[in-house]
Amino acid sequence: MITTLRGRDYIATADWSREELDTLLDVAHDLKRKFALGEPTRLLPDKTLFMIFFDKSTRTRNAFEAGMTQLGGHAHDLTPDVMQISHGESAKDTGIILSRYGHGLAIRHDLEPGAGESYMREVARFADAPVINLQSDIDHPTQTIADLMTIREKFGQNTKGLKIAVSWAYAPSYAKPMSVPQGLISLMTRFGLDVTLAHPPEYTLMQNVVDEARHNAEESGGKFTVVNDMDAAFEGADIVYPKSWGIEELFSRPEEALAISARYKDWIADERRMKLAGKQAIYMHCLPADRGYEVTDEVIDGPRSVVYDEAENRLHTGKAIMALTMGGKGGAPPDA
Ligand code: CP
Repeated sequence: MITTLRGRDYIATADWSREELDTLLDVAHDLKRKFALGEPTRLLPDKTLFMIFFDKSTRTRNAFEAGMTQLGGHAHDLTPDVMQISHGESAKDTGIILSRYGHGLAIRHDLEPGAGESYMREVARFADAPVINLQSDIDHPTQTIADLMTIREKFGQNTKGLKIAVSWAYAPSYAKPMSVPQGLISLMTRFGLDVTLAHPPEYTLMQNVVDEARHNAEESGGKFTVVNDMDAAFEGADIVYPKSWGIEELFSRPEEALAISARYKDWIADERRMKLAGKQAIYMHCLPADRGYEVTDEVIDGPRSVVYDEAENRLHTGKAIMALTMGGKGGAPPDA
């Protein structure tokens, strides 16, 4: 267990070592147990987290706001339109000033490839407080760590050799960020899983992330394969994680993007495909899901679906990230 995470940014899972991520999951497990027992966990009394959402959110926003309350602190729920960011205030000034008022900054900026993570890293360069990535264009590290927690709860601590299918699926609602599949292939390959990424040819992920996943698999003894066939990815999988994402070059051209995606309406997680997976296979989705398009009701509401456990774990892992990075060292908290 690592005890020196105070003040650390959490912008990509790759920024933390495996041992640090294991610590995060240990703490999340402990906080989950205490939550179930109704034990108070006021580890961040009087501390403030500033959350800035450039995009909409249900789970992330509420997991972090509720989590901060449960830790004894407070989270400000901010959007750029109520801040001087909308008048062009710099990442540097925003980072310096908010970190003088409080103890952590958390940012979602996920719909503009090339802009989100670089904005967060610029804030972090100047902020004298940890910066937490609530979803960027590249990674969604508070989601994927909750996913890893859920996988361990279902299959045990040793994830080596578990076969996960990370697949594109059709959704008509909007071009969803690329950060969940990217975050999954980079994290799960580090933990030794056998990762198959499936997508239609147009839906390639960022090349540096794909290269990173390949490298991670070599290091961990896992596997990383890319296919253009959803059935092939589901074949014998222990975990299926089908979800939609957009085309990197077309986020600013939604009509073109939707026209391309409409060619692949048959990329859906349905009972036929679930039968291709292993007998014990679980169905995962970060949510929100486009029901009837990405997945049938039968699958998402069926016995293999763990989507609500996954969503719940956003709270416990979020609290662990905040407690570890924003907390004090040693001794009892002031109001214990
Ligand atoms: N999975 C996830 O990040 O959900 P929200 O977009 O609702 O935060």
